[in-house]
Amino acid sequence: MTDAKTPPATTNGSSGEPMLSVSGVDARYGQIQVLRGISFDVPKGEVVVILGANGAGKTTTLRAICNMVSCDGSITFDGTEIAKKDTADIVNMGLAHIPQGRGTFPELSVLDNLEIGGYVRKDSLDSDIDRWFQMFPRLKERKDQLAGSLSGGEQQMLAVARALMSRPKLLLLDEPSLGLAPLIIEDLFQTFRELNQESGVTMLVVEQNANLALEIANHGYVIEAGEIVLDGPADVLKSDTAVQDAYLGA
Ligand SMILES: Nc1ncnc2c1ncn2[C@@H]1O[C@H](COP(=O)(O)OP(=O)(O)O)[C@@H](O)[C@H]1O
Ligand SMILES: [Mg+2]
Repeated sequence: MTDAKTPPATTNGSSGEPMLSVSGVDARYGQIQVLRGISFDVPKGEVVVILGANGAGKTTTLRAICNMVSCDGSITFDGTEIAKKDTADIVNMGLAHIPQGRGTFPELSVLDNLEIGGYVRKDSLDSDIDRWFQMFPRLKERKDQLAGSLSGGEQQMLAVARALMSRPKLLLLDEPSLGLAPLIIEDLFQTFRELNQESGVTMLVVEQNANLALEIANHGYVIEAGEIVLDGPADVLKSDTAVQDAYLGA
């Protein structure tokens, strides 16, 4: 099933076929195998989180989806097999990846960053810029400021807003909480929740910060040493003692 609808600002959620389906994926750096047969689904319109400690394979999982690391297995995105497709083609199909450590142009202004984010589109960008400025009012106040001079939380917001400018069907977020103060993280995740609920953006978030990630997620997976060891609805995982011991920091 391919999506032939006229895209709204973002593709809205509906049940049925998952937006992303990862099945039996192995990934390696040279001789070193890092992912071992991982499988998971991201349903349309939902937020899925993959939890794991440092070095568990979270970043590699997102890199595998974008074909930025050598891997085997099947990955379908919106009904199309994308394993081994060029990264640029995958991005053009509507997948936006916000790498760990953000991914904005520090020497450009907030506004320039947003315009570059929408460069693949030919229509007017102004209404989208207005829309994301509404969701991220602090970016609007700082629209002419250089991205590199924003605070960590603001840079993360800019990275998300910039990714949204391409009107993605799926947003991949690599540890958005990294290096941010607890209150800022709370704010950011609140915005992610609004984004999902109001705009229906499908999201796959990888995180070490399990508490907040499970607050906004529908479903969670736990990755350890390159294998998915546990999964369940977010509220079930939140009360799972093994997850609590490992990731919810007593
Ligand atoms: N470019 C690379 N070359 C070799 N090994 C790597 C590379 N990147 C990551 N690794 C290894 O792969 C494993 C998983 O890393 P990563 O996916 O970055 O974990 P996480 O994002 O969960 O912290 C780690 O053991 C890490 O050392
Ligand atoms: Mg990582």
